[in-house]
Amino acid sequence: MVTGSDLTVKLMGVAKRFADVVAVDYVDLDVKKGEIFGLLGPNGSGKSTLLKMILGLVKPDSGSLQVFGIKNEEDSVEIKAQAGYVPEVPRLYEFLTGIEYLDFTADLYGVSPAEKRKRINEYLEALELEGREGDMISAYSMGMKQKIALISAFVHRPKLLLLDEPLSGLDPRSARIIKDLLRELASKGVTIIMSTHILEIAQAMCDIIAIMSEGRLLAIGNMEELREMARLPGSNLEEIFLTLTGTSDIKDVVEALMK
Ligand SMILES: Nc1ncnc2c1ncn2[C@@H]1O[C@H](COP(=O)(O)OP(=O)(O)OP(=O)(O)O)[C@@H](O)[C@H]1O
Ligand SMILES: [Mg+2]
Repeated sequence: MVTGSDLTVKLMGVAKRFADVVAVDYVDLDVKKGEIFGLLGPNGSGKSTLLKMILGLVKPDSGSLQVFGIKNEEDSVEIKAQAGYVPEVPRLYEFLTGIEYLDFTADLYGVSPAEKRKRINEYLEALELEGREGDMISAYSMGMKQKIALISAFVHRPKLLLLDEPLSGLDPRSARIIKDLLRELASKGVTIIMSTHILEIAQAMCDIIAIMSEGRLLAIGNMEELREMARLPGSNLEEIFLTLTGTSDIKDVVEALMK
């Protein structure tokens, strides 16, 4: 049985529209402490909007939303203080150097100077940014910017990580380090909600996977439960995803493009 304290995130009937577009359509969702929860879905299905609502960056039109038992409208600052967020396109201060940006972020979260120095150095070394931390962010490659965004989300040891395509642009070694780190954090009780289009990553990493389409949760469960819902025993996540999201007519689409 899931008790209140086991739940990190609870959404009840959460909906959001932008003018005529329904981005999130009455979603109910529970995410437990220490879970790695994967959000999958076609482009525009509402994943990023859902992540932003959990953090309090986008206000839902209706429904209720609790994080760590705190109602979003009550204390969204407290929720933000205890969460780490990597947006799908990190907006960094490009005129700062990497180290200045990380220093600044750690200060915002109130990390002590000694802890800050130690943690930042460890992350810079692990992600092979050592020696480049003094360069302006505008001079970084895409993957290097992604690494800075990840470090800045981890640096205050948040209890909840909201990661929108966290591995995008990362080389295989760095991606592996982040995956192992996320598993390690989850085993210590950190809750991780991540969106991804890389189905192998979701299948390998996530305890629970939710498949979104047009703002709704089409299916939610572990791999076994998803196979049952899609009536595809023994199948992989790609087959399940394509079946549930109604995109199994790919051959026809490709043939039409070749005409
Ligand atoms: N600020 C906004 N103003 C207007 N429409 C928006 C805004 N944010 C999102 N939308 C719309 O809401 C829908 C869901 O967008 P969202 O970014 O949540 O999708 P997504 O699942 O993250 O897609 P992707 O896989 O491409 O990242 C889309 O139709 C999008 O155009
Ligand atoms: Mg998105």
